[in-house]
Amino acid sequence: MAYAISEQNLERQKLLASIMGPVTDRFLESLPLPSVSRCLDLGCGMGETTRQLAGKLDNGVELIGVDQDPNLIEVARSVSGSADGKITFQQGDAAHLSFEDQTFDFVFARYLLHHLDQPQVVLAEMLRVCKSGGIVAVQEPDCAKQYCYPESWAYEKIPEIYSRVFANAFIGRQLYSLFRQLGCPSPHIDVMTLAGVNVELRRSYRMVIEAIGPALIEKGILDSKELQELGEELRRVEEQDEVLCVWSPTFSVWVNRT
Ligand SMILES: C[S@@+](CC[C@H](N)C(=O)[O-])C[C@H]1O[C@@H](n2cnc3c(N)ncnc32)[C@H](O)[C@@H]1O
Repeated sequence: MAYAISEQNLERQKLLASIMGPVTDRFLESLPLPSVSRCLDLGCGMGETTRQLAGKLDNGVELIGVDQDPNLIEVARSVSGSADGKITFQQGDAAHLSFEDQTFDFVFARYLLHHLDQPQVVLAEMLRVCKSGGIVAVQEPDCAKQYCYPESWAYEKIPEIYSRVFANAFIGRQLYSLFRQLGCPSPHIDVMTLAGVNVELRRSYRMVIEAIGPALIEKGILDSKELQELGEELRRVEEQDEVLCVWSPTFSVWVNRT
């Protein structure tokens, strides 16, 4: 299944970064990171995660962001500019990395695996390019449960829609098993659910539906009238001040590379 999100509107990745920033900070702060000299950020998009990693790791760290989308790599390079001299970006496929075995001390991916048909292949690549004693860490959603109150029919439809358009919408709960199947002895797991009367959370649903709209039509999941009604309902909820939104839980999982 190809990547279903149209990345024309970069505000969506910026919004994801703003919402997920504190969750990622908390995860990074919890990791027993060795002194990191080389770090890989896989599925880096426009570099939001890569820059966040740079802010959390030692000054001297060399960071490489990899994404399959050449346009996002261009944006990542221009946003980072020459000030972030230790960050570079490369176009590449997470399933076939061009790096030698054991190149990085820390290999990270956020919100990548649920888009992939074969996440275990990418996890195996992440382990391959990580040095022995290094850390492989991922953050992924499990889209089965999300809701708002007062309730909305649009939120009730979202898990099914995501499960049909994303290759692995419920990957969060599978991550422990996937790492175990790859021989990792004791994956560490933390699960965090964001909730709040927070317009950013509510807006993210509308922006995702807009970004996957073309894929929803192409795959016959919705017709254009249904897509329009869904978008309008999500906008209505977004514009209500007193609506509580409970987002998909984020599974943060890490392993020590043996
Ligand atoms: C939802 S975005 C997440 C971006 C960033 N990690 C973040 O959390 O803000 C997913 C990214 O994965 C990239 N992607 C999808 N499939 C990929 C693959 N096979 N190899 C590399 N990147 C991929 C997409 O182009 C997109 O930029």
